[in-house]
Amino acid sequence: MTQGIDWLDDGAPYSTRFGDRYHGAQGALAQARAVFLHGCGLPQAWAGAPQWRILETGFGFGLNFLATWAAWRADPQRPHLLHFVSLEAWPVDAADLLRMAAREPELLPLARELHAQYWGLLPGVHRLGFEGGRVLLTLSIGDAPALLREQAWQVDSVYLDGFAPQRNPELWSPETLQAVSRCCRRGARLATWTVAGSVRQALAQSGFRVEKVPGLPPKRANLQACYAPHWEPRRAPTPWPAPWAQARACIVVGAGLSGSACAASMARRGWQVTVLDEGETPASGASGLPAGLFGPHLSGDDNRFSRVARAGVRALLQQAGVLLEHGVDWNPGGVLERRPPGKSSLPAGWEDGPGIDWYHRAHAAQLQAAGLPADASACWHVHAGWVRPARLVAQLLAQPGIRVQLGCPVARLQRSAQGDWQALDAAGALIAQAPLLVLAMGPATRNLLAQVQAPRLPLHSVRGQMSWGLQAPHLAGLPPFPVNGHGALVAHVPHAGALAWHAGSTFERGEEDLPPSAPEQAQAHAVNQQRLQELLPGAAAQLAAQFADAAALQSWAGVRCTTPDRLPCVGPLDAALPGLWVCTGMGARGLTRAVLCGELLAALLHGEPLPLEAALARALLPGRLLARAPAE
Ligand SMILES: Cc1cc2nc3c(=O)[nH]c(=O)nc-3n(C[C@H](O)[C@H](O)[C@H](O)COP(=O)(O)OP(=O)(O)OC[C@H]3O[C@@H](n4cnc5c(N)ncnc54)[C@H](O)[C@@H]3O)c2cc1C
Ligand SMILES: C[S@@+](CC[C@H](N)C(=O)[O-])C[C@H]1O[C@@H](n2cnc3c(N)ncnc32)[C@H](O)[C@@H]1O
Repeated sequence: MTQGIDWLDDGAPYSTRFGDRYHGAQGALAQARAVFLHGCGLPQAWAGAPQWRILETGFGFGLNFLATWAAWRADPQRPHLLHFVSLEAWPVDAADLLRMAAREPELLPLARELHAQYWGLLPGVHRLGFEGGRVLLTLSIGDAPALLREQAWQVDSVYLDGFAPQRNPELWSPETLQAVSRCCRRGARLATWTVAGSVRQALAQSGFRVEKVPGLPPKRANLQACYAPHWEPRRAPTPWPAPWAQARACIVVGAGLSGSACAASMARRGWQVTVLDEGETPASGASGLPAGLFGPHLSGDDNRFSRVARAGVRALLQQAGVLLEHGVDWNPGGVLERRPPGKSSLPAGWEDGPGIDWYHRAHAAQLQAAGLPADASACWHVHAGWVRPARLVAQLLAQPGIRVQLGCPVARLQRSAQGDWQALDAAGALIAQAPLLVLAMGPATRNLLAQVQAPRLPLHSVRGQMSWGLQAPHLAGLPPFPVNGHGALVAHVPHAGALAWHAGSTFERGEEDLPPSAPEQAQAHAVNQQRLQELLPGAAAQLAAQFADAAALQSWAGVRCTTPDRLPCVGPLDAALPGLWVCTGMGARGLTRAVLCGELLAALLHGEPLPLEAALARALLPGRLLARAPAE
């Protein structure tokens, strides 16, 4: 699926697929600045804006993105958030990306950062994040005309950069340019280097005021345009909630992974967020587990569960990379997954594509390190690992703009005469008030929803118990990376000056009592030990003595919140309850999903480009569960 590239004598890249140069003879950076940035009135146009959104057709070597990012960095008046959405059918290889950037040394440091996240570009949406999440690059991999139909948000600037119209007519067709216009807010500016009559005509017909301007030599002219239709554009009805950008104050109930991720994503966009939790510390619910796994999910048909997981992994890697200490709070060094025999291969056609950046069949050395036979059926998740969730929660909540109030159980919700949401304690005293309220309380979300007579969300409780202990020095033979399957083992996690192992966990549907009784704990240890025996017989033998020693064996229990379709639940609940949003239903995968869901919630609130495919985002909206919830 990658692009065919020839490097010309002058060192510039040339597309063998399209028979065209990637950049004009004036040079890629000069072109990016003169044609695209200047053509769209940037950086002046974005001065002081809370956020700025740019759409590009044809990511190529990302030079336009890098030049825009550099301009954002250099500008004291830069928008708080820069969204750059680029559509690309044939992504260049990562090595070529760097080779090209080396021709523009000014951009090389940024190109290296881009390169570090430029992997695994399977068809679909890939959200890359820089500058602590203030520069967001959404790479949509696929055919631009089809991708444009999926975009439901509006942009401020458009860069049209998809090879010459005579060599790539589809990208400049009236239909494609009309689809571009549907992504534009009134007043959005567009720039390109082609002044082809057909392009000018199609843009004018789509509502752009088009202007031919002098080009950067040797080019005689460029094209600039402004979206200013004489008619009121008809916007097709969308499944998305109306943006909620009028307010900037919010209450989040729940200081677990879900609540803290929502709070961080909103605070990054300038919200004042009050996070309430009944616990005496953050992460006192399921997110308090001592260590957990994150990683993608492999399915033969690459189902939506797998695609959501990949988007989640990218989101987590970006946040954890900035907020957590490698080797102490997390380790993204990869996870081995034991799979049923015959089910360790990738979906068809992935073996030599970008899929192997995500997963591959486990190598012999990896199986050996796990103490497994060379013919064991297993795959390796490259971008996966362990995290101490409470550390992530603490760091997310430490972002400016977030105030955390602990030890305050919310017992009741009501709306003020002005329509604000009010969170009250059991005595009816007001704890906090704001126009927007996000419930991120795991299964307890149900209780507050019932209390405001909201439609019933089918959220279920699944208690889980994990067995863990400190690693005695002679246990050095435990696998150096987490191993997952039917059960999991995560070893070598720093804990209070020592290392700890974790095995589990049980799935006890419908159970939510905590702590489990002593017999329930004993039963859970037995289940965890049995699963470990099946997963990793060698490790199980090493840990047998600890499983038999009540003084050395620790237990941790929490309650997961699941949904009938096993996908999270993010967004507004019901049009009749404006300002009431939820973020829950993380199931057994909150570490992989919560940061993504926080970003999704913020993107929906602001009508921003989404951090995952639109179809997947739709599959996470609460409405899909309300439709199937049986009447009480
Ligand atoms: C044993 C076990 C092992 C697991 N292993 C993994 C793993 O390896 N990888 C992974 O990704 N996930 C794992 N999970 C799942 C993961 O823990 C959850 O998906 C995640 O923690 C859910 O986060 P949350 O913020 O939605 O919910 P929670 O962390 O439960 O947060 C809900 C918060 O709401 C608060 N709250 C509830 N009611 C009220 C109220 N009335 N007023 C105020 N506050 C309230 C609670 O105190 C709590 O802090 C595991 C779960 C368990 C139980
Ligand atoms: C001239 S290059 C873009 C250069 C790039 N903007 C940069 O800054 O380096 C054009 C790009 O458009 C992509 N492209 C062409 N037709 C496309 C289509 N139908 N859908 C998506 N991308 C397409 C090509 O693969 C190529 O990478």
